[in-house]
Amino acid sequence: MREKLEEIRARASAQLSEINADLEAIRIKYLGKKGELTAVLRNMGSLSPEERPAIGAIANEVRTYIENAIAERMKEKKKDALGEKLEAERIDVTMPGTAVDVGRRHPLAKVRKEMEDIFIGMGFSVVEGPEVEYDYYNFQALNIPENHPARDTQDTFYITDKILLRSQTSPVQVRTMEKQKPPIRIISPGRVYRSDEVDATHSPLFHQLEGLVVDKGITMGDLKGMLETFAKTMFGESTRIRFRPHHFPFTEPSAEVDVSCFSCGGKGCRLCKNEGWIEILGAGMVHPNVLRGCGIDPEVYSGFAFGMGIERIVMTKYNIDDMRLLYENDMRFLGQF
Ligand code: PHE
Repeated sequence: MREKLEEIRARASAQLSEINADLEAIRIKYLGKKGELTAVLRNMGSLSPEERPAIGAIANEVRTYIENAIAERMKEKKKDALGEKLEAERIDVTMPGTAVDVGRRHPLAKVRKEMEDIFIGMGFSVVEGPEVEYDYYNFQALNIPENHPARDTQDTFYITDKILLRSQTSPVQVRTMEKQKPPIRIISPGRVYRSDEVDATHSPLFHQLEGLVVDKGITMGDLKGMLETFAKTMFGESTRIRFRPHHFPFTEPSAEVDVSCFSCGGKGCRLCKNEGWIEILGAGMVHPNVLRGCGIDPEVYSGFAFGMGIERIVMTKYNIDDMRLLYENDMRFLGQF
């Protein structure tokens, strides 16, 4: 029986060392209920009491040997499987990745932010007003009564007789002065609407940036100095500005303001249509009627206001000749800014 046990150990050992050994089959073959080693142990009864302890010890040893060998091989197989998996799933971290498309600001938003930053730097705060506005704020309180011809140039979209889409950001002047007593120093960027046909320089929706300063002793000199600082920061240090007399019902005196062409320096070129100057905004001293209507005494306080089209600034700054490009969301265009 001793030889039989040794023979089982040798055979099991040989089978277990085969590369593709079926561990479960081997376990059943030797250690299972009907296994060879189990059969030997079952026959122990036929041995003499003297032989039994020695043979029993060997049998146990063979069983432990086979069990350990199976456990050992099992561990190895697991390790191999993990190795294969790691090998198969290996990634080359030096390979170029998939680029993520990063968004960017729209040129209108970018320039608006630049404009805001310039004015914030000069002590202005940014306020917003409603786009759906009362006729009162958009026109009447700005010294534009019903039937005033100035309404024709800013024809807009009416919701009712008294409510419309604002045609300018100037109503924010009135809303601000009604709420806040001087000193006032605000800018107000936002969308405005006019019933214009779409073409290279017109759109029924565009953007303006309004400015308003009211305090004791504010003069046209303050307006000029401040607009000059704005123009130099926006278009370059050598930029000059020019005031041309104009008329707005809510400012007196009023002016249209040009900047010297930053492309040719004023000599005349394609960008400035040979003028040497580019018009960028309307401005003036706040009309006494407007101040009075907001409960501000024009004998004590004075102020200036200005309003500019943001599209106009963007198109000038980047030499864009068709406004429609700003609204078409063509990435080939927008990607350039
Ligand atoms: N609101 C005027 C426009 O849209 C511009 C302007 C603003 C003029 C403030 C004077 C003062 O044309």
